[in-house]
Amino acid sequence: MSDKELRVSKIRNGTVIDHVTAGQALNVLAVLGIDGSGGESVSIGMNVPSGKVGQKDVVKVEGRELSQSEVDVISLIAPQATINIIRDFDVVEKNRVERTDSVTGILVCPNHNCITNADEPVKTAFEVLDDGVRCSYCDTIVREEDVAEHIDARGAG
Ligand code: CTP
Ligand code: ZN
Repeated sequence: MSDKELRVSKIRNGTVIDHVTAGQALNVLAVLGIDGSGGESVSIGMNVPSGKVGQKDVVKVEGRELSQSEVDVISLIAPQATINIIRDFDVVEKNRVERTDSVTGILVCPNHNCITNADEPVKTAFEVLDDGVRCSYCDTIVREEDVAEHIDARGAG
């Protein structure tokens, strides 16, 4: 790739979340619990050209790898994303996110009476459906287009 095409600088060590659905970069950051207060170096590209047609978002986080739970939730909001692990400027691992049967943590249940909202030490768990997710504790359904609104603001997970 020529420097002309490179919108966001390469990183030395960390994770590049690439091919993110255009418009979803800030939701990816929310999944990672990144709001700038943690001091991580983060670069974001939004609506950058991808391939011959189309646009994508890209999120680059220095010095951090992702947990499986984080990758699982990213697969819901950016099904085409690739997770690239960077070490000493090289891509040492590249994986497409895969849709999973369930996600734990990170998402919050919209049902205020759900046990997961009761100050109990219970981690959230959702079954993944074709068009959304269903709370494993109370069966409340969050539709696919609403998933991003139910990311835990504290970034716990
Ligand atoms: N990247 C980066 N810093 C590095 C190496 C790579 O930010 N030190 C970024 C690239 O800019 C790209 C992504 O990580 O967005 C994947 O890099 P690479 O595999 O080299 O790019 P492509 O071959 O274009 O990836 P793909 O085939 O997944 O589209
Ligand atoms: Zn619930």
